[in-house]
Amino acid sequence: MTTKRSSFTGKIGFVLAAAGSAVGLGNIWRFPYLAAKYGGGIFLLVYILLAVTFGFALMVAEVSIGRKTGLSAIGAFKALDKRFSFVGYLAALVPVIILPYYSVIGGWVTKYFAGFVMGKADAMAQDSYFNSYIGSTTEPLLWFAVFIGITAIVVLCGVEKGIEKVSKIMMPVLIFLIIGIVIYTSITMDGALEGIVYYIKPDFSKFSIMTAVAAMGQLFYSMSLAMGIMITFGSYMKKDISIEGSAHQVEIFDTGVAFLAGLMIVPAVFAFSGGDESALSQGPGLMFVTLPKIFDSMPGGNIVGAAFFIMVLFAALTSSISLMETVVSIFHDKLHIDRKACCFIVLGISVLLGIPSSLGYSAWSGVTIIGMQILDFFDFISNNIIMPIVAFLTCLFVGYFIKPKTLIEEAEIGGRFKAKNLFSVVIKFVAPVFIILILVSSILNVFGIISI
Ligand code: TRP
Repeated sequence: MTTKRSSFTGKIGFVLAAAGSAVGLGNIWRFPYLAAKYGGGIFLLVYILLAVTFGFALMVAEVSIGRKTGLSAIGAFKALDKRFSFVGYLAALVPVIILPYYSVIGGWVTKYFAGFVMGKADAMAQDSYFNSYIGSTTEPLLWFAVFIGITAIVVLCGVEKGIEKVSKIMMPVLIFLIIGIVIYTSITMDGALEGIVYYIKPDFSKFSIMTAVAAMGQLFYSMSLAMGIMITFGSYMKKDISIEGSAHQVEIFDTGVAFLAGLMIVPAVFAFSGGDESALSQGPGLMFVTLPKIFDSMPGGNIVGAAFFIMVLFAALTSSISLMETVVSIFHDKLHIDRKACCFIVLGISVLLGIPSSLGYSAWSGVTIIGMQILDFFDFISNNIIMPIVAFLTCLFVGYFIKPKTLIEEAEIGGRFKAKNLFSVVIKFVAPVFIILILVSSILNVFGIISI
């Protein structure tokens, strides 16, 4: 490769870009519904433990691989060891799978934003609203088209920078708004306190292997790990910047936003339902069912709702743009076709895969793949199967082929690597064993061989 790579300016450039990709629907939509479903406090505890060990180690590994080679995932693995090139390809598959269904959820967010703008808080707060909305065939498809359309236009015109600027202003405002909503619900709602206890206090009897499976998948998804993204970001990072420090910042920021989003949603579900199991474990629709109820109960709820959803929309767009950008550049590098043409190809694939994900809730609601709805299937296959496999292979690769020392040296160029022993132990022993354990149990569980 002779092309000169542009690089981030300073540490803040890397951290902002990595955090911008990390914070998205994963934090605001996915984390709260998983926390509610998998036992509240125990899920939170397992998640945090995994974040500070696995999440941290993998993030450092990926960023250093990228910075050392100056290449994106496929090229980076190939450059370090030809036999591991396939890991790069496997990682590259993940954003291809995620982008379509991410955009379906992005469509839901767009729809809810429009709903609040039109002053429909009252209607949207009804129990059946969300289900009848996703159960209708055409409307969700249209909003999906709007969301992926905006994403594609931005990528096609190369105006990501503009969106990023807006989103940098919106992100802090969103965080303050979430904190405001948390305070509002805990003061005004009966039962919110029990909900907070449910969310924060670990109940060990609620632990199952599925808690760990879900927490690990969520960790990869939320921190954009095991899909090559952090390798690419690392390739843009300057040598004098501390990889360890940056990884910590991204990890703390990402987990912090997820924690707050959970604090906004989980206790409220608890309060509305009186701690009812089926309300807590309803899955992907949780945010869309609970938040309108909170907004509807507020003075000026339509305005707060619209403000909230537009900010979430921006967070989702920065992620979907970065996802599409990644897929486009993989196609561009590998197929050697014009970038614009690649955009259209990626858009086409995403529409093709997104349509079934959306229809899975309406016209095709009878269709299940290994017992899952279509969107859940895509989510499961990427987060709970391919990403753990990529993470496992990355650990083996770093731990036993290139050796942790190689990456520790890379990480130390920019300053002392304080947690290097933790890094080596996690990469060599803890992570691979643990990942295989949960990978196997989640596969056995899905095929009904064991029930956990
Ligand atoms: N981490 C993002 C979120 O929490 C989702 C995501 C997964 C992503 N992979 C990505 C974003 C790749 C950008 C690029 O919503």
